[in-house]
Amino acid sequence: MLNIIICGAPGCGKGTQSDLIVEKYKLKHLSTGDLLRKEIAEKSELGKVAESYISKGNLVPDEMIINILSKNIEENNNSNGIILDGFPRTVAQAEALQSMLSNNGKEISVLLDLSVEKDELIDRLIKRGQTSGRSDDNMETIKKRLEVYEIQTAPVSDFYRSLNKYAAIDGMGSIDEIFGRISSVLDSKR
Ligand code: AP5
Ligand code: MG
Repeated sequence: MLNIIICGAPGCGKGTQSDLIVEKYKLKHLSTGDLLRKEIAEKSELGKVAESYISKGNLVPDEMIINILSKNIEENNNSNGIILDGFPRTVAQAEALQSMLSNNGKEISVLLDLSVEKDELIDRLIKRGQTSGRSDDNMETIKKRLEVYEIQTAPVSDFYRSLNKYAAIDGMGSIDEIFGRISSVLDSKR
């Protein structure tokens, strides 16, 4: 069983690479961003609260996201494994995840950390913003998301480094080249 975390700055390619990983390794994709956008589209109470954070480029509160994710992990308890995209994003979320998984007799296999140059991140997100309809794909919010990432999310890497479950992936280049780099790490973990 492979339980993977894919992380990195906004626009680094988490969603794009997750789709390829799911196809090859038959894992269940859990993206907290996608789960929140579904709530927003359904205009649920949770969606309304989430939108007020997302559109400003801030993280939604840990407690809210941990609740959503633990429900989804429970529901996918019998899958081949999971790929977590955009979670954990704070050290508190990483700690909560450790106990969620160990309660189910599971553990993280590896965290894939995609690194991409800042100018390239901004280019990708501005381009996507022309068609995505996402309230956070505009220059002002992109800048805020990148700041929040550096302050709140980058420390999550150290958490997994200290557990020896960290793999840095060069996220520059073509989608296929990057997937090749990821595959060689995952093949060594199977
Ligand atoms: P989330 O949805 O996770 O967004 P994000 O981290 O900002 O990342 P993106 O989805 O924008 O980018 P990506 O890395 O998936 O890249 P993609 O593959 O799309 O989170 C959104 C918000 O929700 C957060 O800001 C927060 O408010 C909230 N949230 C979510 N999770 C949370 C949590 N755990 N705790 C608290 N709050 C949370 O690629 C980007 C673009 O580039 C695409 O157009 C793609 O086609 C293109 N592209 C991909 N790869 C390449 C390549 N190699 N070359 C050229 N273009 C490429
Ligand atoms: Mg994404």
